[in-house]
Amino acid sequence: MDKRKIKNAMALIGLMGILLYGACGNEKKEIPKQIYIGVACYDQRDTFLGELLENFKRECRTLEKRGYDISLTIMDAANSQRTQDDQVQEMIGNGCDILCVNLADRTDPSQIITAAQEHDIPIIFFNREPVEEDLMQWEKLYYVGCDAEQSGIMQGEIAAEYINSHPEVDKNEDGKIQYVLLEGEAGHQDAISRTEYSVKTLMKKDVILEKLSYQLADWNRGQAENRMNRLISQYGKKIELVMSNNDEMALGAVEAYRKAGYVREEWPVIFGIDGLEEALEAVKAGEMQGSILNDRVDQAKKMAKMAVELFEGEEFDQESLKEGRYYFSEYQKVDGSNIDEYLNAEETISHSEM
Ligand code: BGC
Ligand code: CA
Repeated sequence: MDKRKIKNAMALIGLMGILLYGACGNEKKEIPKQIYIGVACYDQRDTFLGELLENFKRECRTLEKRGYDISLTIMDAANSQRTQDDQVQEMIGNGCDILCVNLADRTDPSQIITAAQEHDIPIIFFNREPVEEDLMQWEKLYYVGCDAEQSGIMQGEIAAEYINSHPEVDKNEDGKIQYVLLEGEAGHQDAISRTEYSVKTLMKKDVILEKLSYQLADWNRGQAENRMNRLISQYGKKIELVMSNNDEMALGAVEAYRKAGYVREEWPVIFGIDGLEEALEAVKAGEMQGSILNDRVDQAKKMAKMAVELFEGEEFDQESLKEGRYYFSEYQKVDGSNIDEYLNAEETISHSEM
């Protein structure tokens, strides 16, 4: 037989196989269920958010093994709520089944909610929490994120523990800790609570603080480095503690000190939040003293799980959600005492399974 004949014969056998399978099969052929998920995010350049989205994509791929064919569109609003409103309209127009929304302006979700409700498309808000009044507007609105107060308290606790057991942190030995605080974006629920509770907790744990300066740096490393440069030229070696609302800004402070030419003993202690790989490396290297893990793996898993359940229209386990609507991941403390458990161990950072 020549090659063509072999090919034809093979095709025929294949066809017979399919017909036979179809004829005698009670076992129905699994056709993957198609789900179109539209993701709107405020700014993909945000490191934490970028990692959260990478994890979400990975979770969606693992759903393929469970018989789903997920098509994912991710749109970036470059920090503009108007842009995001249009993007959500576009994804609705393209027939999306579920929306995941990371609001540009967390106080202004009304257009998105109205549009989604008109088309009966559930929304999972994530990372940037709408105010409760908005979330309660319609029963198909949910939120996945963290309880920011918890991260503030934990950050205060690890910082207090470090300071209380390392008297050398008080470099000028005046019994007070001169500190600066790097704040995330104005109005962000995480920035507000982290600032408030980290400081309150330090005081509760008997650390006497002297505030030198609070600086807004928009969650951003470059901005934080600039702010720290200015503070270093203003206060010199007086700064004994840097509390930062996230790791990116803490790493900006690290960068500023690296460049300022101080020896390590002259650096302040620096604490962040998020548990980014680079921050964990800085903790290991003694450039930062701790961080609080913001469990992006867990949040991504929960979002993917909810998306499928909402698509299926199952009565999903609403009872496990706070007020039937909110899911909060647990934060975890990371400092010198447990750094090796977290460093290079991305897969261990999630504690809850799907
Ligand atoms: C994270 C920040 C991030 C922000 C974006 C926070 O929960 O800790 O790193 O920039 O969310 O919304
Ligand atoms: Ca002091």
